[in-house]
Amino acid sequence: VSAFTFDELISAELARVEDVLRERMVDQHPIIGSALERLIDGGGKRVRPALVLLSAHLCGGGDIEPVVQAAAAVEMLHTATLIHDDLIDGARVRRGVETLNVDWSPGATVLVGDFAFARAAYLASRTGNQQVVRRFAETLMVICNGEVRQMFDGRSDGLGREGYQRRIYAKTASLIALSTEMGALLVEADPQRVGALYTYGEQLGLAFQVVDDVLDFVADEETLGKPVGSDLRQGLVTLPLLLFLEAHEDPAPSVARALGGDLSDGVVREAVRQVVESGAIERALDVARAHAERAKQSLTSFPASPYRAALVGLADFTVRRRF
Ligand code: IPE
Ligand code: IPE
Ligand code: MG
Ligand code: MG
Ligand code: MG
Repeated sequence: VSAFTFDELISAELARVEDVLRERMVDQHPIIGSALERLIDGGGKRVRPALVLLSAHLCGGGDIEPVVQAAAAVEMLHTATLIHDDLIDGARVRRGVETLNVDWSPGATVLVGDFAFARAAYLASRTGNQQVVRRFAETLMVICNGEVRQMFDGRSDGLGREGYQRRIYAKTASLIALSTEMGALLVEADPQRVGALYTYGEQLGLAFQVVDDVLDFVADEETLGKPVGSDLRQGLVTLPLLLFLEAHEDPAPSVARALGGDLSDGVVREAVRQVVESGAIERALDVARAHAERAKQSLTSFPASPYRAALVGLADFTVRRRF
């Protein structure tokens, strides 16, 4: 199932995570299970659960069962945010399969997403660790708050680099940092190591979302498993466009029109082409690579081990990935 060779280190545990993700509650309506399984079986890179497991091992391991529950919890939380995200973004494909909001009413889609959020919290509580549960809840608040900010004041080009970074921290890096932090917390790592792994996750997460935003400009839908060009089509300004605007006092007419609210197909396609041909993609990838470097830097205080090498490899993968 997995995209990464280093997953061999944790393949038995990842298989357990898959089982936990597919467990059903007593008397659970069949519609919920089939909806969630469509997404879970659709694939997904399982980056977050791998990070929980690798971080716990990097800190010496220990009782791995709570770590498996935490790994399933972050993947379930991620799944829940995707269900609501695709409804909000009007996306029709996810992991190569049709989204729930294509078949169902917004109400039904929201409810299944809510179920997944509740399930994720339940799995987090199974760790029996109060601090983990609190950090889990705090992170979910950060994500929702960020999505609300993006919805109400994130669509303008006045966002700036700082505003952009704050947004991608909220939507993506916060959850990836939670994953590495929880892995360390659950094996009672000392605070310095928890902090180092948090920083690794935060920087990896920032790189991860910058690359996601780049792929929205340059990937093809087949490989990506989700729509491309969708950010601009929603009027959402991301790093490639910000960098383009920084370099062009007088942006191409199509870009100006898109920013002015003309989001028709032809205008968006032409604006995407202008940005792609401008060198802004390469400069955005430089930003992603700088974050990935910082992520790797924060691992230097750990002794060399296959787990550390796997986390280094994940940082490299993040900036090379095409899906
Ligand atoms: C997609 O995350 C949403 C973002 C936060 C960028 P992933 O790229 O990890 O999606 P899957 O789980 O592999 O489908
Ligand atoms: C996803 O951001 C972040 C959350 C799910 C909170 P995007 O909207 O960029 O994710 P994709 O590109 O649809 O996966
Ligand atoms: Mg989306
Ligand atoms: Mg979105
Ligand atoms: Mg995206």
